[in-house]
Amino acid sequence: MNHFLDIHQTDPTALRQMIENAGRMKQARLDRPRGAPDDEQPLAGRMVALIFEKPSTRTRVSFDVGVRQMGGQTMVLSGNDMQLGHGETIADTARVLSRYVDMIMIRTFDESVLTEMADYADVPVINGLTDRTHPCQIMADIMTFEEHRGPIAGKKVVWTGDGNNVCASFLHAAGQFGFDFTFSGPPQLDPEPEFVGFARQKGVSVTIERDARVAVQGADLVVADTWVSMHDAQSARERRHNMLRPYQVNAALMAEARPDALFMHCLPAHREEEVTSEVMDGPNSVIFDEAENRLHAQKAVMRWCLGV
Ligand code: CP
Ligand code: NVA
Repeated sequence: MNHFLDIHQTDPTALRQMIENAGRMKQARLDRPRGAPDDEQPLAGRMVALIFEKPSTRTRVSFDVGVRQMGGQTMVLSGNDMQLGHGETIADTARVLSRYVDMIMIRTFDESVLTEMADYADVPVINGLTDRTHPCQIMADIMTFEEHRGPIAGKKVVWTGDGNNVCASFLHAAGQFGFDFTFSGPPQLDPEPEFVGFARQKGVSVTIERDARVAVQGADLVVADTWVSMHDAQSARERRHNMLRPYQVNAALMAEARPDALFMHCLPAHREEEVTSEVMDGPNSVIFDEAENRLHAQKAVMRWCLGV
């Protein structure tokens, strides 16, 4: 049994196998008529609990569909509707759920909820986003980059805007998959030193460049995310927008990157804020492939967790 808590805690060989498995399962579906069930049903007879303490479209639907494609069943639970949201401890919740279900995916606020769940559960626990990281997203992003451009090792990835949870998982992935990473945003929103330190200690280059136009030069991939995350105070919205406006990804900024540079965004996006529609809907954007690949990548993550 394996937990999938964060990319830096997962063996690089296992991560690579998951990306390959995801591609294989995606191709197997493409090779069969639409609507035909997967030949492989590795989750037959298994029940997966999907717990959401924050809103979700992609994570919720892609996990639900992924489990069903593999023959399993799901139970989607809102944290608020559970006793978890009303004082029952995380440890007790984990022990109780382990008596009913075969795996738990949780999207929560504080990372300690995820780690405590994993400490006390007898079944695999998957991180479906916390305030600090979003590893499933980045597995889909690595898969997407490699589908379009081949191996990501040695490439230059540029993150623009807030050094948030998705940025943190990208830094973990830079270390594990061996690509160079540039962060371009205001100093107040730098990624935590721990994330930068992990990537650097793995031997990849991490650059902080305040000027977005300088940062994207030579980029193979430009990435943006919302300027106000679900865990950020709404009262900080105007201040963040003012700080982050110079980091909007628009056609002028993309023109400074390599001509074949891809654009990614985990979605949901705020059009004309962190990115223009011209870039989102332009020829270098792979945002909907990323969204699709959540499904395939997470199927591989779940199989690895259960060893099936
Ligand atoms: N990218 C992502 O995790 O989307 P949702 O918030 O819709 O799940
Ligand atoms: N950084 C965003 C990602 C959403 C998928 C958030 O945490 O709200």
